[in-house]
Formats: sequence, structure tokens, C-alpha cells
Amino acid sequence: TGADIGVYGLGTMGSALALNFADKGFDVAVSNREPEWIKAFLTEAGPLSERLTAEAELADFVAAIARPRSILFMIPSGAPMDAMIKAIRPHLDEGDTIIDGGNADFNATRRRSADFEGTGLHYVGMGVSGGEEGARHGPSMMVGGTDHSWTQLRPMVEAIAAKFEGDACVAHLGPDGAGHFVKTVHNGIEYADMQMIAEVYGMLRDGGGQDAGQIGALFERWQDGPLSSYLIEVSAAALQSTDSKTGKPMVDVILDQAGQKGTGRWTVIEALKMGQSANTIEAAVGARGWSAEKDARECAAPLLEAQALDASLPAEDDLEMALLAGRILAHAQGFRILASASEEFDWSLDYARISEIWRAGCIIRSALLDDLSDAFRKELPADHLILAPAMRARLRESIPALRRVVSAGVSMGVAMPALSGALAWYDSMRRARGTANLIQAQRDFFGNHGFARVDDAVGTDHHGDWKPPA
Ligand code: 6PG
Repeated sequence: TGADIGVYGLGTMGSALALNFADKGFDVAVSNREPEWIKAFLTEAGPLSERLTAEAELADFVAAIARPRSILFMIPSGAPMDAMIKAIRPHLDEGDTIIDGGNADFNATRRRSADFEGTGLHYVGMGVSGGEEGARHGPSMMVGGTDHSWTQLRPMVEAIAAKFEGDACVAHLGPDGAGHFVKTVHNGIEYADMQMIAEVYGMLRDGGGQDAGQIGALFERWQDGPLSSYLIEVSAAALQSTDSKTGKPMVDVILDQAGQKGTGRWTVIEALKMGQSANTIEAAVGARGWSAEKDARECAAPLLEAQALDASLPAEDDLEMALLAGRILAHAQGFRILASASEEFDWSLDYARISEIWRAGCIIRSALLDDLSDAFRKELPADHLILAPAMRARLRESIPALRRVVSAGVSMGVAMPALSGALAWYDSMRRARGTANLIQAQRDFFGNHGFARVDDAVGTDHHGDWKPPA
């Protein structure tokens, strides 16, 4: 006997998840480092507190949970998580599972899982997406860990997950770090999508002189078309919100410096480590970095001229289709990184299932994800999403718009690092013979690095008959 699950850490996400479990009929033991938070939480819980057992002491908290235990930690994922593991371990018994539901670096999750191996205890890294609202009423969850833990967790996480046409948006994606890795790439795609939306906003504001309300109204109309998604919905609503202090549009009183907690950057770092590049995500991480250089930008503004070329503001339909093309390409890059990691870590990730559990609950949920899951269920030439027939058809329709929008941005001097990066990737990928032959020539010329020849599929150590530099 005892609670079905323990939730430790009653911050925004932990509280919301604990209430979600209780709402679905599970008995939940809760605890928190600061006991005051527990009291506040119980007050907030109202009638649901019937299903909650609150314990301030770690030993009592563990003892209140039925064996084999499932204990979910919603605390900062770095050093605090290592400290918690150390503190709780002596209280655990064979078969117990502890779960890190935070945005952890998957490398840490792999290390922690390896520490648990052979001990009879289990470690799960679970990505949880959807913010507070999602956590309370239905998040999307990406689970990594052992089959034992999945069997234990499955009924509970399926009950609290977001549902897409009845299908629970949660899956066991692989061992150790697989769940946190997939969540990291989810966030990378989230960064790219947010950045591309911001670039279109920038074109309308700086290139078209439109105000926030007008742009918000346009985004709201896009919700009825192929761009329909949570991020367009919140952008539309944010742009149409008013600051009660000044009466100005809310976005106009917000400083243009974006924060980041690391997941977007991790996506880029891990991609580069595997010899991949997701340039839409890199552009989004980089743009947040540039945004932080506010002083330098203010200094540069009067000094560096645009020397713009003639161009007119692209049509609204073009902006819509350009954003759709960018979104497809960013997702394709995200899934390409997942494929590299799956191979590198031997995870056998199920891309169709991943796109299915992203259809509801998470931040990047969109109409496109429904099409992606279909595409993955069918055959994928060269394993590339951009080659799936349905995606090729979408790109055929939308690439001309992306070209017009990026050209206009380039001419007008409106920066579109993610959208122009997406187009550059598309143009690189569709060219069977690229330009790296010259890179290889340069490397061999100055460093004798060797190259493969087009007429010798096996040898990689050919050298050039170089003409001496003039
Ligand atoms: C989610 C989000 C969430 C993330 C925020 C902020 O899936 O619910 O990805 O996990 O913490 O979006 O991320 P940044 O602070 O890095 O922008």
C-alpha cells in the first residue's frame, strides 16, 4: 500500500504534474526541499488534496509510496539532481524507479543511468513539454529508460498525457538518454520555429511599417491555414495584447534581448559533435546571442547603413508559405539529428511515434506534425523527411515563396538568419554535385590532406597535380 507515485519538487511544473496525477485518480505523495512550499501547494490543491500525502522528510516521503516505487523529480537538472540522487538512494529498494522530468542534458542522464545499472534501481530521463498548462491538463512526454520502468510508469503517464484523437502523447523512446535527447531536439525545433515567426514579424514591422496589432491579426488568420500551430496562436495573441501600464502593445514595451536556458544550444552542440548541422536551429540560438548585444547594436545603428536595394514587402500569402517551408525544413533538420543520435547511441528511435506524440500537448504542436507522422509511416527515400512525397509536394508549393521572402529580406536589409539558412540548406541538399570538391582541393593543396576521386570509389588518399601558386 501507499501512493501510486511520488512527486518531489513543487515548483510550477512539479505542482501541475502532481495535480494532474491526482485528477486522474492516482494517489500522490509530494515533497519539497522548502516545507513552506508544501503548505502553499496543498492549499492550491483544494479538493484534490484528498489524494495527496505530503511529507517534509525524505525518508517519510519515500515510505509513503507503494513499491516498486515511481518517484518523479521536478527540480533543476544539474547539481541539484545529483545531490538528490545521492540523498534518496539509501532509502530506495530493488525495483524502484526515479525519474528526472526536467530539461536535463542527455549526457548527464546517460551518466546517471549508467550509475544505476546493475543496482536493481532504475533511472528514467523524461522530457516533459507543454509548460504549466500542459503539465496540469496534458503534457507531451518523451521517456527514456528501462522496460521495467516503462511498465511501471506507462498507465500513469498515459493517463495524464495530452491526447491526440484519443492517442496518448507519451512514448518509451529508448534507453537512458533517449527521452531527454528527443526533448532537447524538440526544443531546438521550438527555437527555430519561434525565430522564423519573429523574422516574419520583423519583415512586417521594419520592412512594412506595420504595428503589432496588425501583425497579430494576420497571424491569427494564419491559424485557419497550414501554419496552424500553438506557436502561431500564442504569437498572434501576444502581438494583440496591451500593456496596462502604458496602453501600448505589450511587445513594444519588452526589451529585445532573448533569454535561453540551454536546450537549443545543446541541440546545436550535439549536432556538431555528430558531424551534423541544423542551421535553422543554429541561427535561432545565434540570434538570441546577438540579441543580447544590445549596447553594440545601439552603437552600430547610426553607424552602419543598410544600403538597401529596391524591394517591396512580400505578399501576405508569400510570408505564410515561406514560414511553412521554413517550418518543414527545420523539422527535417531536427529529425536528421535524431537519426544521427539514434545511430550513434544505438537507440532505434521511432520517428513516426515521435511525431505522433508531438501532435498535442507540446510547444511545437502543429498541423504539420500530423502530416509528418503520416510521412514517417510511409517510405522515406534516403531517410530524409524532405524526400517524403507529401513533404516534397508541400515544398514544391512553398519554396518559391521562401525565395521571394528571403530575397526581399536581403534587399531591404531585414535579417532572416533562420529563413535564409533554411533556404541555403534546401539548395545545398538538392544539388547532387556540391562545391566541397574545391574545399578538398584547398586542403590537399596546403596540407597534403588527400581526397577521394570521382573515378575511384574506394581510395581516399589521392593527391592533386597542383600548379604552383602564381
Ligand atoms: C516545453 C518548453 C520548455 C522550455 C521553455 C523555455 O517544451 O515546454 O520547451 O521546456 O523550458 O520553452 O526554454 P528557453 O528558456 O531555453 O527558451
